[in-house]
Amino acid sequence: MSTVMSTSKIANASAQASGKGPRSALVARPQAPSARAPLCAKPLARSSLVVSAAAATASAPTPSASLTEQFKPNAVARVPPTQQKQTAIITGASSGLGLNAAKALAATGEWHVVMACRDFLKAEKAAKAIGMPAGSYSVLHLDLSSLESVRQFVANFKATGRRLDALVCNAAVYLPTAKEPRFTADGFELSVGTNHLGHFLLSNLLLEDLKNAPNKQPRCIIVGSITGNTNTLAGNVPPKANLGDLSGLAGGVSPANPMMDGQEFNGAKAYKDSKVACMMTVRQMHQRFHESTGVTFASLYPGCIAETGLFREHYGIFKTLFPPFQKYVTKGYVSEEEAGKRLAQVISDPKLNKSGAYWSWSSSKGSFENQVSEEVADDVKAVKLWELSAKLVGLSA
Ligand SMILES: NC(=O)c1ccc[n+]([C@@H]2O[C@H](COP(=O)([O-])OP(=O)(O)OC[C@H]3O[C@@H](n4cnc5c(N)ncnc54)[C@H](OP(=O)(O)O)[C@@H]3O)[C@@H](O)[C@H]2O)c1
Repeated sequence: MSTVMSTSKIANASAQASGKGPRSALVARPQAPSARAPLCAKPLARSSLVVSAAAATASAPTPSASLTEQFKPNAVARVPPTQQKQTAIITGASSGLGLNAAKALAATGEWHVVMACRDFLKAEKAAKAIGMPAGSYSVLHLDLSSLESVRQFVANFKATGRRLDALVCNAAVYLPTAKEPRFTADGFELSVGTNHLGHFLLSNLLLEDLKNAPNKQPRCIIVGSITGNTNTLAGNVPPKANLGDLSGLAGGVSPANPMMDGQEFNGAKAYKDSKVACMMTVRQMHQRFHESTGVTFASLYPGCIAETGLFREHYGIFKTLFPPFQKYVTKGYVSEEEAGKRLAQVISDPKLNKSGAYWSWSSSKGSFENQVSEEVADDVKAVKLWELSAKLVGLSA
C-alpha cells in the first residue's frame, strides 16, 4: 500500500529542502544543470515520491486497523511534534547494520524509524522479515548515488511532517574487486559519491530539522570504520586509507581523477578513503555546529560484521573464510543483531551522548570512546575536505 505525494506538496517541501531557512553554515545553491555529465544516471523516477502507508501514521496502528484506516495522508503533519514518537532516519536500513539498528530502535516502542533506502520493496520485505511491528517504521526512497535523489528525499521527509531526532548515515558500498571505477549520477566515483558526498549533502540539509527536535538530545551519527583508521592493525592492511592532498576530490573524483588523493583507482582504498572522509565530516560538524545547534555528532566502529551484504562483491573464497577468521583468529567478529544494538545505543543511549566522539566496543569494557587516526584528526585537512565536498554537492560556506 503506497501513495504518491501531490506536486504542490513536494514543491513546498522542495523549497524547504533547498537550504533556505536552515541556520546552518551551509546554504544550498541551485544545481548547475549539466556541469557534470551523468555517467550512469538513473532517471529519478517518481517512485522516489512513494511513501509507505505506515509513513502516514504517527503512532502504531492497532492490529485490527484496516489498511485504509492506517493510511491517512497528512495524519502525521496534524500531530504536534511533541506528541509524535521520536523519529530516526536510517540510511541503508534494508540490510545488515542499518536494518538491525532499525529493529532495535523500533523494539523500544519509543521510536519511529524512517528507513531511507534505494530499494523500496527490499526494505519493506526486510522490515517484515525481521519482525518490525507495522507502524513502527516507514520506508522513504533515497538513492545516495544521486544528489537529486538526496534533495528529493529531504523534500519528501519534510512533507511527512515528522519530527527528526536522529539522522543515521549508515549506507555504504564497498567495491574491493572492481578493476575499473564506477560513477554516481553526478559523475563521482561510486564509493566516495555514495558513502561520503551523498551523506554530506543529506546531513547538511537535515541539520535544521535536528536542531528543532523536541528531543533534548538530537543526534547525527555517521558510521565509520576501523579500516579507515591507520592507528589500528586492521587499518594497516594494504591498501591503506590516505586522502593525500585531496587533489582528486578537488578534481571532482571524476573519471579523470577517481581517487580522492589523485592516485590510481583502487576499489578497496576508495571505500577506506570514503570512511575517513565520513569520520572527518563528523568531527567538522561537531566543531561547526554542536554549540549553536545542540546536536550531538558522533561516529562509531560497530565491530566486524563479517556476513553483511557489504562484502557482496568480494571473492567467494573471501566470503567463506572471512567470518571464521574474524570469529576465531582476530576475535573482532560481531553478529548483525549485536552490531545493530550497538548502533541503536549510539543513537539513543543518554550515556553515549558525547558530541565529537568515535565509539567502539570491547568484550571487557563494552562501549568506549576510541582514538581516531592521525589523518582523521587532521583538522586542517578536514576543513579542506569540507570546503571541497560542499562545492561538489552544490552547497556553499
Ligand atoms: N560489515 C562490516 O564489517 C562493517 C564494519 C564497519 C563498518 N561498517 C559500516 O556499516 C555500514 C552498513 O554496512 P553493512 O555491513 O550493514 O552492509 P550492507 O548490509 O551491505 O548495508 C549497506 C546498505 O547500504 C545501502 N546502500 C548502498 N548503496 C546505496 C545507495 N546508493 N543509496 C541508498 N542506500 C544504499 C544498501 O542498500 P541495498 O540493500 O539496496 O543494497 C544497504 O542497505 C556501512 O557504513 C559500513 O561501512 C560495516
